[in-house]
Amino acid sequence: MDGMDGVEVESCTHCEALVDSRSQIVNGDGPADADVVFVGEAPGANEDAEGVPFVGRSGDVLDGALRDAGLDRADVRITNCVRCRPPDNRDPASEELVNCRPYLDRELELVDPEVVVTLGKVPGEHLLERDVAVTNETGSVERVALGGRERDVLLCLHPAATLYDASQKTAFRETIERAATMAGVSGGQSNLGDF
Ligand code: URA
Repeated sequence: MDGMDGVEVESCTHCEALVDSRSQIVNGDGPADADVVFVGEAPGANEDAEGVPFVGRSGDVLDGALRDAGLDRADVRITNCVRCRPPDNRDPASEELVNCRPYLDRELELVDPEVVVTLGKVPGEHLLERDVAVTNETGSVERVALGGRERDVLLCLHPAATLYDASQKTAFRETIERAATMAGVSGGQSNLGDF
């Protein structure tokens, strides 16, 4: 694919506004054969500076929940719907989501995970192609054709939601535990039962 080496996008100039606002393309992070791929929205300021997804405050929340669920960050792959930081941290425009989608599809096809976890409303709606009420739907699973085959997509709150509203912490952590259970990790504290 144009500008893509394996799962990494090396160059891309499809979105004019994002080319102007980014300092670098932020590719997915983690093993290229991970069983679980977490998909966020788009890089923020810290991610743009470091070139790695989820390294700011949201990343700290995610890392903590992964650890507590028995999932080491180093064992999962973390990526975004859009690989360049939008200006002023705005949501990615639908055209930008569409432009970046072939890279995400290719990444999912190559990594070939069993479970895809969407972090927040934007990736949930992008991958499920429907409206998502993420606060109500966090923890639910749908089978979706992605990256060449059907996969389980687990809807999850964005980790930042727990920073704005502490009452979301439990639901966020239970959803990450469910991801661990789905990935076959026994260290998780999940008491959500079978799914
Ligand atoms: N939020 C996201 O959606 N993605 C990141 O990489 C960081 C914060």
